[in-house]
Amino acid sequence: MYLDMMFVLAVTALLLSRAAAQQVYVLTQGPSPRPQCAACRPPATPTYRFSSFSFTQTETYRYATSIAPPATTKTYAAPFAVLKTLLPTSLATTTWGSWSPNDTAATDTADPYGQAAWSSLWAWASPPNFTTTGIYSTTVSPTAVPSSELVLPPADYFGPTDCYTFPADFIFGVAGSSAQIEGAVAMEGKGPNLMDVFARPGIADNYVTNENYFLYKQDIERLAAMGVRYYSFSIAWSRILPFALPGTPVNSAGIAHYDDLINYTLAKGMIPTVTMLHFDTPLQFYAANVTDRFKDVLIGYVNGAYQNATFEDAFVNYARILLAHYSDRVPVWFTFNEPLLYSDNGASINSVVKAHARVAHYYKDVVRGTGKIGVKLNDNFGVPRDPRNDSDVAAANHFNDFQLATFWNPLVLGEDYPDAFKMTIPDYVPLSAGDLSYMRGTCDFVAVDPYTATVVSQPPGGIADCVINASSPYFPYCVVQETNNTFGWNIGYRSYSYVYITPTYLRTYLNYLWNTFRAPVFITEFGFPVFGEADKASVADMVFDTPRSLYYLSFMTEVLRAIWEDGVAVMGALAWSFADNWEFGDYRARFGMQVVERETQTRYFKKSFFDLVAFVRDRHPNYEAA
Ligand SMILES: *[C@@H]1O[C@H](CO)[C@@H](O)[C@H](O)[C@H]1NC(C)=O
Ligand SMILES: *[C@@H]1O[C@H](CO)[C@@H](O)[C@H](O)[C@H]1NC(C)=O
Ligand SMILES: *[C@@H]1O[C@H](CO)[C@@H](O)[C@H](O)[C@H]1NC(C)=O
Ligand SMILES: *[C@@H]1O[C@H](CO)[C@@H](O)[C@H](O)[C@H]1NC(C)=O
Ligand SMILES: *[C@@H]1O[C@H](CO)[C@@H](O)[C@H](O)[C@H]1NC(C)=O
Ligand SMILES: *[C@@H]1O[C@H](CO)[C@@H](O)[C@H](O)[C@H]1NC(C)=O
Ligand SMILES: *[C@@H]1O[C@H](CO)[C@@H](O)[C@H](O)[C@H]1NC(C)=O
Ligand SMILES: *[C@@H]1O[C@H](CO)[C@@H](O)[C@H](O)[C@H]1NC(C)=O
Repeated sequence: MYLDMMFVLAVTALLLSRAAAQQVYVLTQGPSPRPQCAACRPPATPTYRFSSFSFTQTETYRYATSIAPPATTKTYAAPFAVLKTLLPTSLATTTWGSWSPNDTAATDTADPYGQAAWSSLWAWASPPNFTTTGIYSTTVSPTAVPSSELVLPPADYFGPTDCYTFPADFIFGVAGSSAQIEGAVAMEGKGPNLMDVFARPGIADNYVTNENYFLYKQDIERLAAMGVRYYSFSIAWSRILPFALPGTPVNSAGIAHYDDLINYTLAKGMIPTVTMLHFDTPLQFYAANVTDRFKDVLIGYVNGAYQNATFEDAFVNYARILLAHYSDRVPVWFTFNEPLLYSDNGASINSVVKAHARVAHYYKDVVRGTGKIGVKLNDNFGVPRDPRNDSDVAAANHFNDFQLATFWNPLVLGEDYPDAFKMTIPDYVPLSAGDLSYMRGTCDFVAVDPYTATVVSQPPGGIADCVINASSPYFPYCVVQETNNTFGWNIGYRSYSYVYITPTYLRTYLNYLWNTFRAPVFITEFGFPVFGEADKASVADMVFDTPRSLYYLSFMTEVLRAIWEDGVAVMGALAWSFADNWEFGDYRARFGMQVVERETQTRYFKKSFFDLVAFVRDRHPNYEAA
């Protein structure tokens, strides 16, 4: 049975420039070529015969294996005992308790940073329907994962057939972020942040989530048992500095928490990477009117308050405290997570790029850190609807420039903001030649969260009409975004959310990134919320997540092709996420590779977790040293 007509998506194998990095639809007819059949043409007629029958199939059971802890810990900077001399001598360290709306008021009202002042931050934040209905209130001692949980699942019938291996220094790990997993939002001195007041009617809160603040050792134990190499987490600014601003005291409970989290990660044979700000801006930057967090923003989805005039210095102060404490043991730092999505206006972007550059210089020039630092960006890669149509190609370039070049033109190339940004955001803060030379090269890599691809074309009236009209439904990207090709098919298998399985577009994307910004590419989040997973009746059905395995194995196969066939330097990949979690108001979008049973906080490994780790370890001769 042959298709009347089929189209082949041809990806140019070796892409020398961005202009060449386009897909071409080739219309063809007749059967699919099967080049693998040339050597084994079957006889024209089968020969039927009887033989004795018995159940002869054998099944091989494999166990996931952990990595041996290193004999010595590699360091990337001087320890805190030395680096603390870089911090102001006046910097105080203190502790606070926990908060509940029913507390009787503390009496130390004369102390601007006392318990009373801290509690009043929470009273002001007034988290809606606040509860502390978690199971735990103290760190849980980990227990070894029983080997019965570590048997690999049956492989899917169709799987990878490649022969490539990962380069010796290829980083592989899993990721999560503080607000999405920690819970304990008003405990042990943590101050309120944007994520803690995100709940609205119909939008779930993050007050409990995965209780990772108390279960972090058990969570790390489980990742180690699976043989994960890198653990990527984010630190909650308001847990380190509940009063957020320079000169305010450090929360010693917060410092100790992440210190121990890092040490435990290392003790289990894994390596930590840290994101400094993952959407959880301290609430102080929202002025008296905390409802400002929901105001209309020009650029992103939510007001992250980066445009506040005090934000840049405060972020740099916070980053210096983190670097002083942890940069001896952390080899990779991300200043901001997907900053565009929480940017209000031109001043927001100005704060982000300037704060990033200052922190990167501080890390390299003052701390003398030998690790790597960058900023991780969102962009579900824009591909032209018709790659032979100049109008569509211009739309795709506009879409990608707006999201990526806005940050990496200055921070990687030392070049001005792209036209896509300047023509859309007229209040942008111009960068001087001095700014650009200071910013150039302050990202050691281009870190992107390439979940999926977007089919892009120009809006009615064109890009030019849209960029001057903030009321346009296409503003601010000013392109039509679709998820189907010109024949009406979805571009890949669809998830519960915005993600489609688009591995070949990932390869094109990696080519685009490497050849445009000329820096190693770091895939810092990618993942797939399987359609309908939350509605499955049993854990057994939830953990048999073949579509997620298909996503991960096909994406990783294309990563290998980009490396070996296209010459693209891909330095690593971090899977999102190591467990189901709070997806900004939703527990139904299941991006995790473990099920979390909310009533009991029990975790269950999904099949894709085994499949992904096995895919990488089977192809990574240097896995335990990378
Ligand atoms: C506060 O007290 C009320 C009434 O006793 C109770 O229903 C509620 O659960 C308490 N809230 C918290 C966060 O403890
Ligand atoms: C508070 O909880 C009630 C009852 O569940 C719900 O109807 C309401 O929407 C919640 N309010 C907010 C702001 O989330
Ligand atoms: C973590 O390890 C560092 C370096 O070995 C050590 O200085 C620090 O005290 C440890 N922290 C905790 C909480 O054990
Ligand atoms: C900006 O942040 C400061 C805290 O540093 C706050 O006092 C001020 O009100 C904020 N300004 C605006 C306009 O939100
Ligand atoms: C607070 O901010 C919101 C959103 O910007 C606005 O609608 C409201 O009027 C403000 N309230 C006060 C008291 O300023
Ligand atoms: C390219 O696309 C634009 C916008 O969809 C359309 O108006 C134009 O006719 C197309 N050009 C060609 C050569 O197909
Ligand atoms: C801006 O876009 C809106 C929404 O499409 C439209 O109603 C309005 O006429 C446009 N304004 C201008 C000046 O084009
Ligand atoms: C693609 O999907 C959009 C809706 O997102 C629809 O309007 C359009 O007609 C579809 N294109 C084709 C060719 O089916």
